Amino acid sequence: MRLNPARKIHGRLRLPGDKSISHRAALIAALASGRSEISNFSTARDCASTVACLQELGVSIEHRDRKLVFTGDRKLTAPRRPLDCGNSGSTLRILTGVLAGYDFTAELIGDESLSSRPMRRIIEPLELMGARIEATEGKAPLKVHGSANLNPITYKLPVASAQVKSAILFAGLNAAGRTTVIETTPSRDHTERLFNGFGVLVTTNDHSITLDGPARFNGGTITIPGDVSSASYFVAAAMLLPQSQLTLEGVGLNPTRAAFLSVLSSWGADISTDDVQTERNEPFGTINVRGGINGVARETELSRASIPSLIDELPLLAVVGSQISGGIRIRDAAELRLKESDRLATTALNLRAMGAEVEEFEDGLRVSGPTRLRGALIDSRNDHRIAMAFAVAALIAEGETEIEGSKCVAISFPEFFPLLDSLAKR
Ligand code: S3P
Repeated sequence: MRLNPARKIHGRLRLPGDKSISHRAALIAALASGRSEISNFSTARDCASTVACLQELGVSIEHRDRKLVFTGDRKLTAPRRPLDCGNSGSTLRILTGVLAGYDFTAELIGDESLSSRPMRRIIEPLELMGARIEATEGKAPLKVHGSANLNPITYKLPVASAQVKSAILFAGLNAAGRTTVIETTPSRDHTERLFNGFGVLVTTNDHSITLDGPARFNGGTITIPGDVSSASYFVAAAMLLPQSQLTLEGVGLNPTRAAFLSVLSSWGADISTDDVQTERNEPFGTINVRGGINGVARETELSRASIPSLIDELPLLAVVGSQISGGIRIRDAAELRLKESDRLATTALNLRAMGAEVEEFEDGLRVSGPTRLRGALIDSRNDHRIAMAFAVAALIAEGETEIEGSKCVAISFPEFFPLLDSLAKR
Protein backbone atom coordinates (compact mmCIF):
# COMPACT_ATOMS: atom_id res chain seq x y z
CA MET A 1 0.00 0.00 0.00
CA ARG A 2 1.34 3.43 -1.00
CA LEU A 3 0.12 6.50 0.88
CA ASN A 4 0.56 10.21 0.31
CA PRO A 5 0.22 13.12 2.72
CA ALA A 6 -3.25 14.56 3.35
CA ARG A 7 -4.44 18.11 4.01
CA LYS A 8 -7.20 17.18 6.44
CA ILE A 9 -9.63 14.51 7.60
CA HIS A 10 -13.25 15.32 6.97
CA GLY A 11 -16.38 13.21 7.43
CA ARG A 12 -18.91 11.34 9.53
CA LEU A 13 -18.86 7.55 9.93
CA ARG A 14 -20.17 4.53 11.80
CA LEU A 15 -17.68 1.73 12.34
CA PRO A 16 -18.05 -2.05 12.30
CA GLY A 17 -18.54 -3.69 15.69
CA ASP A 18 -15.85 -3.92 18.33
CA LYS A 19 -13.56 -6.94 17.98
CA SER A 20 -13.20 -7.71 21.70
CA ILE A 21 -16.93 -7.40 22.39
CA SER A 22 -17.79 -9.46 19.28
CA HIS A 23 -15.62 -12.42 20.38
CA ARG A 24 -17.31 -12.46 23.77
CA ALA A 25 -20.84 -11.96 22.41
CA ALA A 26 -20.37 -14.91 20.02
CA LEU A 27 -19.09 -17.17 22.82
CA ILE A 28 -21.95 -16.14 25.11
CA ALA A 29 -24.56 -16.64 22.36
CA ALA A 30 -23.08 -20.07 21.63
CA LEU A 31 -23.48 -21.13 25.27
CA ALA A 32 -26.79 -19.37 26.06
CA SER A 33 -30.21 -20.97 26.27
CA GLY A 34 -32.67 -19.88 23.56
CA ARG A 35 -32.08 -17.93 20.39
CA SER A 36 -29.58 -15.05 20.16
CA GLU A 37 -29.00 -12.39 17.52
CA ILE A 38 -25.91 -10.25 17.18
CA SER A 39 -26.09 -7.07 15.05
CA ASN A 40 -23.08 -5.07 13.85
CA PHE A 41 -20.81 -8.07 14.52
CA SER A 42 -17.16 -7.25 13.88
CA THR A 43 -15.93 -7.74 10.31
CA ALA A 44 -12.45 -8.57 11.66
CA ARG A 45 -10.86 -11.78 10.43
CA ASP A 46 -10.12 -12.60 14.10
CA CYS A 47 -13.84 -12.70 14.89
CA ALA A 48 -14.51 -14.88 11.84
CA SER A 49 -12.00 -17.31 13.41
CA THR A 50 -14.09 -17.41 16.60
CA VAL A 51 -17.30 -18.06 14.62
CA ALA A 52 -15.66 -20.82 12.54
CA CYS A 53 -14.32 -22.54 15.69
CA LEU A 54 -17.78 -22.43 17.29
CA GLN A 55 -19.33 -23.94 14.15
CA GLU A 56 -16.72 -26.69 14.28
CA LEU A 57 -17.89 -27.31 17.86
CA GLY A 58 -21.42 -27.93 16.58
CA VAL A 59 -22.95 -24.49 17.22
CA SER A 60 -25.56 -23.46 14.65
CA ILE A 61 -24.73 -19.92 13.47
CA GLU A 62 -26.26 -18.26 10.41
CA HIS A 63 -25.74 -14.89 8.74
CA ARG A 64 -29.25 -13.43 8.24
CA ASP A 65 -30.04 -9.79 7.32
CA ARG A 66 -26.56 -8.65 8.36
CA LYS A 67 -27.02 -10.33 11.74
CA LEU A 68 -25.49 -13.43 13.26
CA VAL A 69 -28.27 -15.74 14.45
CA PHE A 70 -27.58 -18.51 17.00
CA THR A 71 -30.16 -21.30 17.26
CA GLY A 72 -30.25 -25.01 18.09
CA ASP A 73 -29.56 -26.85 21.34
CA ARG A 74 -26.56 -25.47 23.11
CA LYS A 75 -24.33 -28.40 23.59
CA LEU A 76 -20.78 -28.07 22.35
CA THR A 77 -19.64 -31.30 20.71
CA ALA A 78 -16.12 -32.68 20.24
CA PRO A 79 -14.60 -31.16 17.09
CA ARG A 80 -13.52 -33.54 14.32
CA ARG A 81 -10.75 -31.23 13.15
CA PRO A 82 -8.31 -28.91 14.94
CA LEU A 83 -9.88 -25.54 15.77
CA ASP A 84 -8.06 -22.92 13.69
CA CYS A 85 -7.72 -19.67 15.63
CA GLY A 86 -5.73 -17.99 12.82
CA ASN A 87 -3.96 -14.88 14.17
CA SER A 88 -6.38 -14.39 17.08
CA GLY A 89 -5.05 -14.50 20.64
CA SER A 90 -8.53 -13.77 22.03
CA THR A 91 -9.99 -16.78 20.19
CA LEU A 92 -7.27 -19.15 21.31
CA ARG A 93 -7.04 -18.02 24.92
CA ILE A 94 -10.70 -17.43 25.72
CA LEU A 95 -11.99 -20.48 23.82
CA THR A 96 -9.50 -22.64 25.73
CA GLY A 97 -11.19 -21.37 28.91
CA VAL A 98 -14.59 -22.38 27.52
CA LEU A 99 -13.36 -25.83 26.45
CA ALA A 100 -11.73 -26.49 29.84
CA GLY A 101 -15.26 -27.13 31.14
CA TYR A 102 -16.32 -29.76 28.56
CA ASP A 103 -15.72 -33.52 28.78
CA PHE A 104 -13.89 -33.90 25.48
CA THR A 105 -10.56 -33.22 23.85
CA ALA A 106 -10.02 -30.42 21.36
CA GLU A 107 -6.91 -29.21 19.59
CA LEU A 108 -6.45 -25.47 18.99
CA ILE A 109 -4.01 -24.24 16.37
CA GLY A 110 -2.93 -20.84 15.08
CA ASP A 111 -0.75 -19.12 12.49
CA GLU A 112 2.99 -18.59 12.92
CA SER A 113 2.60 -15.42 14.99
CA LEU A 114 -0.04 -16.91 17.31
CA SER A 115 2.00 -20.12 17.69
CA SER A 116 4.91 -18.07 19.05
CA ARG A 117 2.88 -16.28 21.77
CA PRO A 118 2.88 -17.33 25.45
CA MET A 119 0.10 -19.66 26.57
CA ARG A 120 1.35 -20.75 30.02
CA ARG A 121 -0.60 -17.82 31.39
CA ILE A 122 -3.87 -19.65 30.60
CA ILE A 123 -2.58 -23.21 31.02
CA GLU A 124 -1.63 -22.67 34.66
CA PRO A 125 -4.99 -21.46 36.01
CA LEU A 126 -7.07 -23.80 33.81
CA GLU A 127 -5.03 -26.81 35.00
CA LEU A 128 -5.54 -25.68 38.60
CA MET A 129 -9.27 -25.87 37.83
CA GLY A 130 -8.91 -29.48 36.64
CA ALA A 131 -8.43 -29.34 32.87
CA ARG A 132 -5.33 -30.89 31.30
CA ILE A 133 -3.65 -28.93 28.50
CA GLU A 134 -0.80 -30.17 26.32
CA ALA A 135 1.43 -27.54 24.68
CA THR A 136 4.87 -27.30 23.13
CA GLU A 137 7.09 -25.18 25.37
CA GLY A 138 4.03 -23.34 26.59
CA LYS A 139 2.86 -22.46 23.08
CA ALA A 140 0.16 -23.50 20.59
CA PRO A 141 -0.89 -25.96 19.26
CA LEU A 142 -2.80 -26.69 22.46
CA LYS A 143 -4.59 -29.96 23.17
CA VAL A 144 -7.29 -29.28 25.74
CA HIS A 145 -8.63 -32.22 27.73
CA GLY A 146 -11.60 -30.62 29.44
CA SER A 147 -13.63 -31.71 32.44
CA ALA A 148 -17.28 -31.12 33.23
CA ASN A 149 -16.35 -31.11 36.95
CA LEU A 150 -13.99 -28.15 37.19
CA ASN A 151 -12.92 -26.82 40.59
CA PRO A 152 -13.53 -23.16 41.30
CA ILE A 153 -10.31 -21.27 42.10
CA THR A 154 -9.13 -17.94 43.44
CA TYR A 155 -6.38 -16.81 41.10
CA LYS A 156 -4.19 -13.72 41.11
CA LEU A 157 -3.20 -12.76 37.56
CA PRO A 158 0.60 -12.50 37.24
CA VAL A 159 0.15 -10.21 34.19
CA ALA A 160 -2.68 -7.79 33.47
CA SER A 161 -4.49 -9.65 30.68
CA ALA A 162 -8.17 -9.50 29.81
CA GLN A 163 -7.78 -12.66 27.75
CA VAL A 164 -6.49 -14.64 30.74
CA LYS A 165 -9.12 -13.15 33.07
CA SER A 166 -11.81 -14.04 30.52
CA ALA A 167 -10.53 -17.61 30.05
CA ILE A 168 -10.86 -18.19 33.82
CA LEU A 169 -14.32 -16.59 34.02
CA PHE A 170 -15.64 -18.67 31.09
CA ALA A 171 -14.21 -21.82 32.75
CA GLY A 172 -15.85 -20.72 36.02
CA LEU A 173 -19.27 -21.11 34.38
CA ASN A 174 -18.74 -24.88 34.62
CA ALA A 175 -17.15 -25.00 38.09
CA ALA A 176 -19.41 -25.65 41.10
CA GLY A 177 -18.73 -22.80 43.53
CA ARG A 178 -17.04 -19.39 43.59
CA THR A 179 -14.36 -18.51 41.02
CA THR A 180 -12.41 -15.34 41.82
CA VAL A 181 -9.88 -13.55 39.61
CA ILE A 182 -7.69 -10.94 41.27
CA GLU A 183 -6.15 -8.33 38.99
CA THR A 184 -3.88 -5.68 40.46
CA THR A 185 -4.16 -3.48 37.36
CA PRO A 186 -7.60 -3.36 35.74
CA SER A 187 -7.79 -4.66 32.15
CA ARG A 188 -10.71 -4.37 29.72
CA ASP A 189 -13.90 -5.54 31.42
CA HIS A 190 -16.14 -6.59 28.51
CA THR A 191 -16.48 -10.13 29.84
CA GLU A 192 -17.75 -8.89 33.21
CA ARG A 193 -20.20 -6.44 31.59
CA LEU A 194 -21.57 -8.95 29.08
CA PHE A 195 -21.87 -11.81 31.60
CA ASN A 196 -24.05 -9.49 33.69
CA GLY A 197 -25.89 -8.37 30.55
CA PHE A 198 -26.80 -11.94 29.65
CA GLY A 199 -27.90 -13.12 33.12
CA VAL A 200 -24.73 -14.41 34.81
CA LEU A 201 -23.93 -12.32 37.87
CA VAL A 202 -20.30 -11.20 38.09
CA THR A 203 -19.28 -8.88 40.92
CA THR A 204 -16.23 -6.64 40.91
CA ASN A 205 -14.93 -5.47 44.28
CA ASP A 206 -11.67 -3.54 44.42
CA HIS A 207 -9.40 -5.92 42.54
CA SER A 208 -11.53 -9.11 42.82
CA ILE A 209 -13.88 -10.38 40.15
CA THR A 210 -16.22 -13.12 41.35
CA LEU A 211 -18.60 -15.54 39.70
CA ASP A 212 -20.67 -18.37 41.24
CA GLY A 213 -20.93 -21.50 39.10
CA PRO A 214 -22.41 -23.43 37.57
CA ALA A 215 -24.14 -20.69 35.65
CA ARG A 216 -25.86 -20.30 32.28
CA PHE A 217 -26.57 -17.31 30.05
CA ASN A 218 -30.01 -16.28 28.81
CA GLY A 219 -29.93 -15.78 25.05
CA GLY A 220 -31.00 -12.44 23.59
CA THR A 221 -30.12 -9.70 21.14
CA ILE A 222 -27.19 -7.29 21.12
CA THR A 223 -25.94 -4.59 18.78
CA ILE A 224 -22.16 -4.41 19.05
CA PRO A 225 -20.85 -0.83 19.52
CA GLY A 226 -18.38 0.43 16.89
CA ASP A 227 -14.76 -0.56 17.48
CA VAL A 228 -13.03 2.16 19.51
CA SER A 229 -9.58 0.78 18.67
CA SER A 230 -10.39 1.07 14.95
CA ALA A 231 -11.67 4.60 15.67
CA SER A 232 -8.35 5.54 17.29
CA TYR A 233 -6.53 5.76 13.93
CA PHE A 234 -9.03 8.22 12.45
CA VAL A 235 -9.18 10.25 15.67
CA ALA A 236 -5.38 10.58 15.73
CA ALA A 237 -5.22 11.45 12.02
CA ALA A 238 -7.87 14.16 12.52
CA MET A 239 -5.97 15.57 15.51
CA LEU A 240 -2.70 15.73 13.54
CA LEU A 241 -4.18 17.53 10.50
CA PRO A 242 -5.25 21.02 11.64
CA GLN A 243 -8.25 21.70 9.37
CA SER A 244 -9.93 18.35 10.17
CA GLN A 245 -13.46 17.76 11.32
CA LEU A 246 -14.49 14.19 12.15
CA THR A 247 -17.58 12.62 13.70
CA LEU A 248 -17.72 8.92 14.58
CA GLU A 249 -21.12 7.66 15.69
CA GLY A 250 -22.02 4.66 17.83
CA VAL A 251 -18.46 3.99 19.02
CA GLY A 252 -17.77 1.93 22.16
CA LEU A 253 -16.70 4.21 25.04
CA ASN A 254 -15.91 1.64 27.72
CA PRO A 255 -13.35 3.44 29.97
CA THR A 256 -11.05 0.39 29.96
CA ARG A 257 -10.74 0.87 26.19
CA ALA A 258 -11.26 4.56 25.43
CA ALA A 259 -8.44 5.91 27.63
CA PHE A 260 -6.49 7.05 24.56
CA LEU A 261 -9.11 9.81 24.10
CA SER A 262 -8.07 11.44 27.40
CA VAL A 263 -4.40 10.95 26.58
CA LEU A 264 -4.83 12.72 23.21
CA SER A 265 -6.85 15.49 24.92
CA SER A 266 -4.08 15.95 27.50
CA TRP A 267 -1.67 16.36 24.56
CA GLY A 268 -3.82 19.14 23.10
CA ALA A 269 -6.46 17.40 20.94
CA ASP A 270 -9.93 18.92 20.64
CA ILE A 271 -12.11 15.85 21.27
CA SER A 272 -15.63 15.64 22.69
CA THR A 273 -18.13 12.82 23.15
CA ASP A 274 -21.92 13.01 23.22
CA ASP A 275 -25.12 11.00 22.78
CA VAL A 276 -23.81 8.35 25.22
CA GLN A 277 -26.06 5.29 25.65
CA THR A 278 -25.52 1.72 26.80
CA GLU A 279 -26.08 -1.70 25.27
CA ARG A 280 -25.91 -4.72 27.61
CA ASN A 281 -23.85 -2.56 30.04
CA GLU A 282 -21.42 -1.37 27.35
CA PRO A 283 -21.37 2.44 26.89
CA PHE A 284 -21.21 3.84 23.36
CA GLY A 285 -21.63 7.27 21.80
CA THR A 286 -20.44 9.86 19.30
CA ILE A 287 -16.83 11.06 19.15
CA ASN A 288 -16.19 14.52 17.64
CA VAL A 289 -12.70 15.70 16.72
CA ARG A 290 -11.53 19.08 15.43
CA GLY A 291 -8.03 19.09 14.02
CA GLY A 292 -4.99 20.69 15.63
CA ILE A 293 -2.80 20.42 18.71
CA ASN A 294 -3.64 23.20 21.17
CA GLY A 295 -1.66 24.30 24.19
CA VAL A 296 1.13 22.58 26.06
CA ALA A 297 0.98 18.80 26.45
CA ARG A 298 0.35 17.39 29.95
CA GLU A 299 0.90 13.78 31.09
CA THR A 300 3.46 12.85 28.47
CA GLU A 301 4.60 9.76 30.42
CA LEU A 302 2.35 6.72 29.92
CA SER A 303 3.12 4.07 32.55
CA ARG A 304 1.87 1.79 35.32
CA ALA A 305 -1.90 1.39 35.79
CA SER A 306 -2.76 3.32 32.62
CA ILE A 307 -0.98 0.79 30.34
CA PRO A 308 -3.60 -2.03 30.11
CA SER A 309 -6.37 0.35 29.04
CA LEU A 310 -4.09 1.83 26.33
CA ILE A 311 -2.41 -1.41 25.32
CA ASP A 312 -3.58 -1.71 21.69
CA GLU A 313 -3.23 2.04 21.03
CA LEU A 314 0.39 2.41 22.22
CA PRO A 315 2.03 2.11 18.76
CA LEU A 316 -0.34 4.82 17.51
CA LEU A 317 0.32 6.98 20.58
CA ALA A 318 4.05 6.64 19.88
CA VAL A 319 3.42 7.96 16.34
CA VAL A 320 1.38 10.89 17.70
CA GLY A 321 4.08 11.41 20.36
CA SER A 322 6.56 12.25 17.60
CA GLN A 323 4.45 15.39 16.96
CA ILE A 324 4.21 16.51 20.60
CA SER A 325 6.50 19.26 21.80
CA GLY A 326 8.96 17.63 24.23
CA GLY A 327 8.02 14.14 23.00
CA ILE A 328 6.54 11.34 25.09
CA ARG A 329 7.63 8.29 27.12
CA ILE A 330 6.01 4.87 27.45
CA ARG A 331 7.11 2.58 30.36
CA ASP A 332 5.82 -0.62 32.05
CA ALA A 333 4.68 -1.89 28.64
CA ALA A 334 6.86 -5.00 28.18
CA GLU A 335 3.65 -6.89 27.27
CA LEU A 336 3.83 -5.10 23.90
CA ARG A 337 6.71 -7.41 22.98
CA LEU A 338 4.30 -10.40 23.16
CA LYS A 339 1.61 -9.14 20.77
CA GLU A 340 1.11 -10.04 17.08
CA SER A 341 4.65 -8.65 16.64
CA ASP A 342 7.15 -7.24 19.14
CA ARG A 343 5.38 -3.90 19.03
CA LEU A 344 8.09 -1.95 20.89
CA ALA A 345 10.68 -3.07 18.33
CA THR A 346 8.42 -2.61 15.26
CA THR A 347 7.26 0.83 16.41
CA ALA A 348 10.83 1.99 17.06
CA LEU A 349 12.10 0.56 13.76
CA ASN A 350 9.43 2.25 11.65
CA LEU A 351 9.45 5.59 13.49
CA ARG A 352 13.22 5.75 12.98
CA ALA A 353 12.75 4.92 9.28
CA MET A 354 10.54 8.03 9.09
CA GLY A 355 13.20 10.18 10.73
CA ALA A 356 12.04 10.24 14.36
CA GLU A 357 14.41 9.95 17.29
CA VAL A 358 13.42 6.95 19.43
CA GLU A 359 15.04 5.32 22.45
CA GLU A 360 13.96 1.75 23.14
CA PHE A 361 13.79 0.33 26.68
CA GLU A 362 13.03 -3.23 27.75
CA ASP A 363 9.54 -2.05 28.75
CA GLY A 364 8.91 1.02 26.64
CA LEU A 365 9.99 3.82 24.32
CA ARG A 366 10.99 7.46 24.43
CA VAL A 367 9.95 9.34 21.32
CA SER A 368 11.33 12.85 20.76
CA GLY A 369 9.13 15.51 19.27
CA PRO A 370 8.05 17.40 17.40
CA THR A 371 9.72 15.86 14.35
CA ARG A 372 8.90 16.40 10.69
CA LEU A 373 8.39 12.80 9.51
CA ARG A 374 9.43 11.75 6.04
CA GLY A 375 7.82 9.09 3.87
CA ALA A 376 9.54 5.69 4.13
CA LEU A 377 9.22 1.98 3.54
CA ILE A 378 7.32 0.59 6.55
CA ASP A 379 7.76 -3.01 7.64
CA SER A 380 4.45 -3.96 9.26
CA ARG A 381 5.73 -7.44 10.23
CA ASN A 382 2.17 -8.46 9.33
CA ASP A 383 0.89 -6.74 12.45
CA HIS A 384 -2.41 -4.93 11.79
CA ARG A 385 -1.95 -2.28 14.48
CA ILE A 386 1.53 -1.39 13.17
CA ALA A 387 0.23 -1.07 9.59
CA MET A 388 -2.61 1.23 10.68
CA ALA A 389 -0.50 3.37 13.05
CA PHE A 390 2.01 4.03 10.26
CA ALA A 391 -0.73 4.75 7.72
CA VAL A 392 -1.62 7.65 10.03
CA ALA A 393 2.06 8.68 10.14
CA ALA A 394 2.09 8.61 6.31
CA LEU A 395 -0.64 11.29 6.17
CA ILE A 396 1.55 13.84 7.97
CA ALA A 397 4.89 12.83 6.41
CA GLU A 398 6.77 14.53 3.61
CA GLY A 399 6.61 12.39 0.46
CA GLU A 400 5.25 8.92 -0.18
CA THR A 401 5.12 6.04 2.31
CA GLU A 402 4.86 2.39 1.39
CA ILE A 403 3.48 -0.09 3.91
CA GLU A 404 4.67 -3.64 3.38
CA GLY A 405 2.22 -6.39 4.32
CA SER A 406 -0.65 -3.90 4.53
CA LYS A 407 -3.28 -6.62 3.92
CA CYS A 408 -2.87 -7.62 7.57
CA VAL A 409 -5.25 -4.77 8.54
CA ALA A 410 -8.06 -7.27 7.80
CA ILE A 411 -7.19 -8.99 11.10
CA SER A 412 -9.11 -6.26 12.92
CA PHE A 413 -10.37 -3.73 10.32
CA PRO A 414 -10.74 -4.87 6.67
CA GLU A 415 -12.39 -1.55 5.69
CA PHE A 416 -9.48 0.54 7.05
CA PHE A 417 -7.79 1.72 3.82
CA PRO A 418 -10.98 2.51 1.81
CA LEU A 419 -12.43 4.42 4.79
CA LEU A 420 -9.16 6.30 5.37
CA ASP A 421 -9.14 7.20 1.68
CA SER A 422 -12.72 8.51 1.88
CA LEU A 423 -11.90 10.68 4.92
CA ALA A 424 -8.49 12.01 3.86
CA LYS A 425 -8.66 15.15 1.70
CA ARG A 426 -5.54 15.83 -0.37
C1 S3P B 1 -7.88 -8.47 24.29
C2 S3P B 1 -7.00 -8.26 25.32
C3 S3P B 1 -5.65 -7.69 25.12
C4 S3P B 1 -5.55 -6.98 23.78
C5 S3P B 1 -6.10 -7.78 22.65
C6 S3P B 1 -7.57 -8.11 22.90
C7 S3P B 1 -9.19 -9.07 24.61
O1 S3P B 1 -4.71 -8.74 25.16
O2 S3P B 1 -4.21 -6.65 23.51
O3 S3P B 1 -6.00 -7.07 21.45
O4 S3P B 1 -10.09 -9.09 23.73
O5 S3P B 1 -9.37 -9.53 25.74
P1 S3P B 1 -4.11 -9.30 26.54
O6 S3P B 1 -5.19 -10.00 27.29
O7 S3P B 1 -3.00 -10.25 26.13
O8 S3P B 1 -3.59 -8.09 27.26
